[in-house]
Amino acid sequence: MRASLNARLAGCKKGMVLIVITSNVVSSVFASRECGLLLGDAREVLRTLADDSVDCTVTSPPYYSGRRHVGDTVLEIGSEKTVEEYVEALASVGKELYRVTRPTGSYWLNLDDKCERKEWLGIPWRVAFAMREIGWKIRSEVIWHKPTHVRNAAKDRLTPAHELLFYFVKSKDAYYDMDAIRRPSSPPIWGKNGVVKTRRGSVPTDVWTLQIEDSTSPENPYAAFPEALVELPIRATCPRGGTVLDPFVGSGTTAVVALRLGRKAIGIDASADCLEFTKKRILEVRGQPATPRQTPFNHAVKVSHGCMR
Ligand SMILES: C[S@@+](CC[C@H](N)C(=O)[O-])C[C@H]1O[C@@H](n2cnc3c(N)ncnc32)[C@H](O)[C@@H]1O
Repeated sequence: MRASLNARLAGCKKGMVLIVITSNVVSSVFASRECGLLLGDAREVLRTLADDSVDCTVTSPPYYSGRRHVGDTVLEIGSEKTVEEYVEALASVGKELYRVTRPTGSYWLNLDDKCERKEWLGIPWRVAFAMREIGWKIRSEVIWHKPTHVRNAAKDRLTPAHELLFYFVKSKDAYYDMDAIRRPSSPPIWGKNGVVKTRRGSVPTDVWTLQIEDSTSPENPYAAFPEALVELPIRATCPRGGTVLDPFVGSGTTAVVALRLGRKAIGIDASADCLEFTKKRILEVRGQPATPRQTPFNHAVKVSHGCMR
């Protein structure tokens, strides 16, 4: 678990030197009709995208660590000296996202807090309020409950076992497909003429129990978030054929899930290594059939390894 946390802090594979590019470089690592992978600082690459071109963004930026992992010239988010600078960095990304998102579009942002000198900094909500200043409306705050949590080393506080996922919209009329995320109810109802009627199914709550990804897995050694964390947002807030963006795509989870669900994907990352890994995953996914409809989760559903049951 600790390894996973550290990997996410560094935004890269354990023990690997992060290759982060400098400000004036933006390059395409992969481009097809359905997917584009762009290497560079998210704040700069986003400026190259057209207005109102994205339906939904799902992302998980690096944690705030207050440490520089490599030299001073790199623009790795998370290494800012103060929380205020970190919030400002994410606000710059949020501002560009607002511009590139369609009026009916959405933005899902997964963030964790940090405890310094025995005090939580309140980072997720500070960032959420910064997004509000930009114009994003906070539609939901999701608690991502992690059943296998990091062991608590502190003797005087509760064991942290959750992260937050904010769901922002641009307008009151944001696209939202409730039926795409209903949990089918069972058993089906039999009508008078033997016709099978199905109940509409319940809708997920804002507490999601999802196991964290195993960063020691040889299949994906990066600090990936669970596929299920991305799947519900995409099903609900991006129409089929629409475009999903992740400005911190890392090992490509958002892009892979988007493509499997019949959406287009754009991934940005400052690490060339991450994008090479993502490219391989994308090439594996291409040509595979769309995943069968899965049951949306909520707090009452037992979930393991990111799969919805
Ligand atoms: C927590 S990881 C994302 C993991 C991803 N959700 C996945 O499933 O693999 C954060 C990513 O942000 C990238 N990153 C850090 N600073 C960046 C910047 N300024 N612009 C773009 N990407 C950046 C890191 O290289 C890292 O891959």
